[in-house]
Amino acid sequence: MRGGGLHFHFHLWLVFLFALTAASFGLGVENQSVRCIAAERRALLDFKKRLTVVENRLVSWTSEEEECCNWIGVGCDNSTGHVVKLDLDAMFTTGEIGSSLLELKHLSYLDLFSNHFHKIPDFIGSLSELTYLDLSGNSFTGFIPHQLGNLSRLLCLDFSRNSLSSFIPISFDNMPALQRINFEGNNLEGGIPKSLGNICNLKELNLNDNKISGSLGVVIKNLSGCAKDSLEALNLARNRLTEALPDLSILSSLRKLSLSGNQLEGPLPVSNGKMSQLVLLDVSSNSLHDCWNKYMILTAINLENNDLSGIIPNSLGSLQTLESLRLRNTSLYGEIPQSLENCTALKLQDLGDNKLTGIIPPWIGERLNGLNVLRLRSNEFHGNIPSTLCRQQLLQVLDLSLNNISGDIPSCLNNLTAMAHLGSSMALIPLVGITYTVDFIGAIGINFHEHLLVVWKGFEREYGNTLGLLKSIDLSCNKLSGKIPRELASLQGLINLNLSRNMLRGSIIREISQLKSLDSLDLSTNNLSGEIPESMSELSFLSMLDFSNNNLSGKIPSSTQLQSFNATSYSGNPGLCGEPLRKCPGGEPPKMPNNGGNEGDEGLFEPLWFFIGMIIEFLIGFWGIFGSLMINRSWRYKYFQLVSKLTDWIKLTMALMMVKLQRKLRLKE
Ligand SMILES: *[C@@H]1O[C@H](CO)[C@@H](O)[C@H](O)[C@H]1NC(C)=O
Ligand SMILES: *[C@@H]1O[C@H](CO)[C@@H](O)[C@H](O)[C@H]1NC(C)=O
Ligand SMILES: *[C@@H]1O[C@H](CO)[C@@H](O)[C@H](O)[C@H]1NC(C)=O
Ligand SMILES: *[C@@H]1O[C@H](CO)[C@@H](O)[C@H](O)[C@H]1NC(C)=O
Ligand SMILES: *[C@@H]1O[C@H](CO)[C@@H](O)[C@H](O)[C@H]1NC(C)=O
Ligand SMILES: *[C@@H]1O[C@H](CO)[C@@H](O)[C@H](O)[C@H]1NC(C)=O
Ligand SMILES: *[C@@H]1O[C@H](CO)[C@@H](O)[C@H](O)[C@H]1NC(C)=O
Ligand SMILES: *[C@@H]1O[C@H](CO)[C@@H](O)[C@H](O)[C@H]1NC(C)=O
Ligand SMILES: *[C@@H]1O[C@H](CO)[C@@H](O)[C@H](O)[C@H]1NC(C)=O
Ligand SMILES: *[C@@H]1O[C@H](CO)[C@@H](O)[C@H](O)[C@H]1NC(C)=O
Ligand SMILES: *[C@@H]1O[C@H](CO)[C@@H](O)[C@H](O)[C@H]1NC(C)=O
Ligand SMILES: *[C@@H]1O[C@H](CO)[C@@H](O)[C@H](O)[C@H]1NC(C)=O
Repeated sequence: MRGGGLHFHFHLWLVFLFALTAASFGLGVENQSVRCIAAERRALLDFKKRLTVVENRLVSWTSEEEECCNWIGVGCDNSTGHVVKLDLDAMFTTGEIGSSLLELKHLSYLDLFSNHFHKIPDFIGSLSELTYLDLSGNSFTGFIPHQLGNLSRLLCLDFSRNSLSSFIPISFDNMPALQRINFEGNNLEGGIPKSLGNICNLKELNLNDNKISGSLGVVIKNLSGCAKDSLEALNLARNRLTEALPDLSILSSLRKLSLSGNQLEGPLPVSNGKMSQLVLLDVSSNSLHDCWNKYMILTAINLENNDLSGIIPNSLGSLQTLESLRLRNTSLYGEIPQSLENCTALKLQDLGDNKLTGIIPPWIGERLNGLNVLRLRSNEFHGNIPSTLCRQQLLQVLDLSLNNISGDIPSCLNNLTAMAHLGSSMALIPLVGITYTVDFIGAIGINFHEHLLVVWKGFEREYGNTLGLLKSIDLSCNKLSGKIPRELASLQGLINLNLSRNMLRGSIIREISQLKSLDSLDLSTNNLSGEIPESMSELSFLSMLDFSNNNLSGKIPSSTQLQSFNATSYSGNPGLCGEPLRKCPGGEPPKMPNNGGNEGDEGLFEPLWFFIGMIIEFLIGFWGIFGSLMINRSWRYKYFQLVSKLTDWIKLTMALMMVKLQRKLRLKE
């Protein structure tokens, strides 16, 4: 009976695995009773012959398997049996796109996303039934064939992320159905053909990261055929557009607009107040002077790296849906207006690198309860850190450095719940930005990724995908006095802590060893005294340490990784001795390396468990998500975003782990 039970379970598992596999290959539950058409099967086999397929991904494409409608990536029409869909996305195939595709006379969906094809064949313009064409993420070079302009049924055209170089050669006169065009990340030059503006269904145009040049006014003019009433998302970021901002309100349906990273000048014309649909506006990194206008339902506004030279207007307080406010490096002065307390939806507030004055208003903590990121770095704020900031339970990045802030570090910081939680649970939860990738017309949205400049390990870096992982407090370069509060030790998720260049006194709290996730700790240039606590050895993730220029004394605890840091990490503490500094005076009894060996082993063991746990978590997450994604194709883009996030996360984790392991190994020698 036992055996039978096992047997039964085994079968259940087989069924489960099969279902999983079937689901992941998109075969699903459909009844595929149609017989595929012999000529089309031959055409597919011929098409395959010209490909180099990795890992036998097209394993089902054989002459033995007659039902080509069941082949991986092939979809047929229910009633006629004609092949209507070819989806080879992420097959990493190389070779030639063979003209046998022309035999598939009813092909309406062709997706070659993320392969390694080099040449777009001219005959592609003859696949006249195509409604969906995705050639993104390949290695196409050279010109886009003008024959594409013959694909009059096309709804979606995606050429993004190739190395194409040319002007946009297509005439869109014969493509009235197009809704989405994505040419992101090529080397396209010149202007935008006027015929593009005559596509009356165009909802989304993405030309991010090309070399489009000319006056933005002319570009908008070229778009102002009937497309002006349909266009919902326009991304012209990182091109070479010049001159003053034109009246954009002519684009009456626009919801998302990015003009970031061009050479635009002057103010936003007042009539932009008419753009009542605008949700997201990114005009950062231009030479704009006055961008303050009323946009009623904005959720994200990015004006950074412009020269606004003024105060933050009160009217900003009317943007009650605002989630992301980025005003970094815009020459702003004056105080933070109280009206901002009405922006209760804010998740990210970056007012850094300006000349703002006054105190940090206590209402920031009281009213803006959803903040994930508060960055006020490099301004002229004075006064205390308001204790109301402790109410920010979602706060992950607090950067108040380079101001004139005085007083004590509030001891209620242990109330910052998000920082008190360990990293791994939060690791896959995107911080901000994801709310703007809402796909209002289907799978492919124009994504405006949230990013942030953070000083970590001594370098200012931009965090994009991994931003959600970062938990950081930077209070450096202020006039903070008093002791380091013990409560700080509760913030176990903290990865970066920088309290350097203040006037902190007292000793380094023993409890600091509880900050197990800490990767970078900078307490330099304060007035800290006493010994370095022995418990520091437990900070096994630490890869950057600076205790220099304090008044620390005694022996640097040995048998820990503390020895592996540069002597400069400890310099400027006249009373400090021991490796890596000078030897301690002979009189002092050598400290026992208490449990040194053991601790080392445990420390080495720990990442292994961490790693195993990570793999398990990854696999569970992967199957859960991957399975459902393959069934529901429209989730594809989110999936790839997720993968890149995961990859970033794994890279980050691995990097941290390697540093740690290397240090341990070095110490063992
Ligand atoms: C598939 O459809 C055919 C008729 O079209 C039917 O005879 C057969 O039972 C169906 N199979 C399944 C598994 O539903
Ligand atoms: C296939 O058939 C089902 C019903 O059997 C129908 O709902 C579906 O729309 C058909 N799909 C196509 C592409 O014809
Ligand atoms: C494609 O368009 C060109 C004109 O742009 C025309 O001469 C040619 O016949 C068209 N080809 C097909 C297959 O429709
Ligand atoms: C505007 O359209 C014309 C005609 O298609 C084109 O020659 C020109 O380059 C376009 N200019 C810009 C700036 O897009
Ligand atoms: C700040 O903005 C100006 C343009 O106003 C730009 O030239 C400069 O590079 C920016 N600085 C930083 C640090 O981003
Ligand atoms: C802030 O909100 C309050 C109450 O909703 C309102 O009375 C006040 O006018 C608002 N302030 C601004 C500047 O929008
Ligand atoms: C801690 O957070 C809770 C919830 O926001 C708040 O009610 C409480 O006042 C906070 N405590 C301190 C000391 O700030
Ligand atoms: C900083 O504050 C001190 C008084 O606390 C004041 O004397 C000094 O001028 C301030 N510095 C700046 C740059 O605001
Ligand atoms: C801490 O902050 C100071 C001043 O902002 C900076 O110079 C230093 O590099 C930071 N330390 C680390 C470890 O990032
Ligand atoms: C540092 O602290 C000591 C007392 O611990 C005090 O005597 C000294 O004045 C302080 N130095 C500075 C520069 O604040
Ligand atoms: C360093 O600390 C000692 C007490 O531990 C104190 O006497 C001395 O004044 C301090 N030195 C400085 C420069 O603050
Ligand atoms: C840190 O140590 C390395 C040798 O390991 C040395 O080359 C380097 O100059 C040191 N860094 C500083 C800032 O002194």
